[in-house]
Amino acid sequence: MDKLLIRGGVPLVGEAAISGAKNAALPIICASLLSDGPLNLSNVPRLNDVATMRRLIGQMGVAIAADGDGALTLDGRRLDNPVAPYEMVKTMRASILALGPLLARHGEAKVSLPGGCAIGARPVDQHIKGLRAMGAEIRVEGGYVLAQARRLKGARIVTDMVTVTGTENLMMAATLAEGETIIENAAREPEVVDLANCLTAMGARISGAGSDRISIQGVDRLHGADHPVMPDRIETGTYLCAAAATRGEILLTRTSAALLDSVIDKLREAGCVVDCRSDSIVLKAPRRLKPVSVRTAPYPAFPTDMQAQFMAIDSVADGAAVIRETIFENRFMHAVELIRLGANIRIDASNAVVTGVPALDGATVMATDLRASASLVIAGLVARGETLIERIYHLDRGYERIEEKLTRLGADVRRVR
Ligand code: EPZ
Repeated sequence: MDKLLIRGGVPLVGEAAISGAKNAALPIICASLLSDGPLNLSNVPRLNDVATMRRLIGQMGVAIAADGDGALTLDGRRLDNPVAPYEMVKTMRASILALGPLLARHGEAKVSLPGGCAIGARPVDQHIKGLRAMGAEIRVEGGYVLAQARRLKGARIVTDMVTVTGTENLMMAATLAEGETIIENAAREPEVVDLANCLTAMGARISGAGSDRISIQGVDRLHGADHPVMPDRIETGTYLCAAAATRGEILLTRTSAALLDSVIDKLREAGCVVDCRSDSIVLKAPRRLKPVSVRTAPYPAFPTDMQAQFMAIDSVADGAAVIRETIFENRFMHAVELIRLGANIRIDASNAVVTGVPALDGATVMATDLRASASLVIAGLVARGETLIERIYHLDRGYERIEEKLTRLGADVRRVR
């Protein structure tokens, strides 16, 4: 398995281009299952999760043509296998996003339950509850969700909690349902809006995406469209944190600060100078970061996907901070690895008290999930000496060409087999 070897202590300086958003590309690729014409995507990130999703819908019958620079054409005209097998779903939970589109377009679906993952149980009960409200007959058997519906009917759905892929699944299913669907307590994440924009270009009738109440008027069919995937706000935030921790100065292009208000506010509170332009961000780090406390919550509040990265920067800040994780029940696994690098962190249920230390010292550490591995990269970039990060397949799921982008920013990092 690949490892990442980092020699820390080098400030990140220079320019990096941000890739398309993983968490927008994944649902948008599933949207091709709804259409009987070609969906032409651009700015699709080259990530393992995207490759997995392409394989998943390809084996369902969607014709896929790709060219090197992030362009992808998906043609759902011939859909003949509405099955998402366990072998593929177990490696990527976002496969559940095929359920709604398959039901809406094909009338039946057999989708493996994702199973848990490192950060939590990750149930999909809200996805099932909403589809049942739309008239689907769904039973769970042998680890699979077996669903069928002659034609889904619009319904008013109130999800028990804010769920990003739950909102996306139900919104996609509703585009071809009969009548109006209202999703209350909907997720407001920018990736939900990007999906809604793509579906609208395909002929869907959606209003309210980005608010907590989304209305969808069902139509008879969706056609092909062209859609550029939005920039990845979490990749953006990750590089901003890496520059902040290493006393660097970077320019990030092909991204938008508007997607990251809560994160940029916190970086400014930590003492960084952040200059936001229309499609780029410049960050200049202070000599020593001030500690910042964060509390994760649904958008537009501080994103849970940035929690691990902030634990890394708080580890070397001048004082103590409290990090509160309210979304996932087990999303502090990076803490014990950061402690191996010399961090001073005390976990108490969903709170982590981080007391900054003057320096971290390199060691061998293990990545446990995608954003935890990003947190270890940041810590390795700032630690004295060498840090070897194992199991970096987690990183490759969500960060395109990370060692190349970091190297161009001056980091001493290389992948070792
Ligand atoms: C999406 O996951 C993202 N993944 C996650 O990013 C992100 O952390 C998460 O939203 C929260 O923002 C994609 O978009 C592909 P949820 P999702 O449904 O949709 C509970 C990354 O690092 N819940 O919003 O699976 C759930 O257990 C990944 O890129 C139910 O109980 O998250 C959690 O506690 C990690 N029942 C909370 O809701 C359900 O049916 C929020 O989960 C659905 C969710």
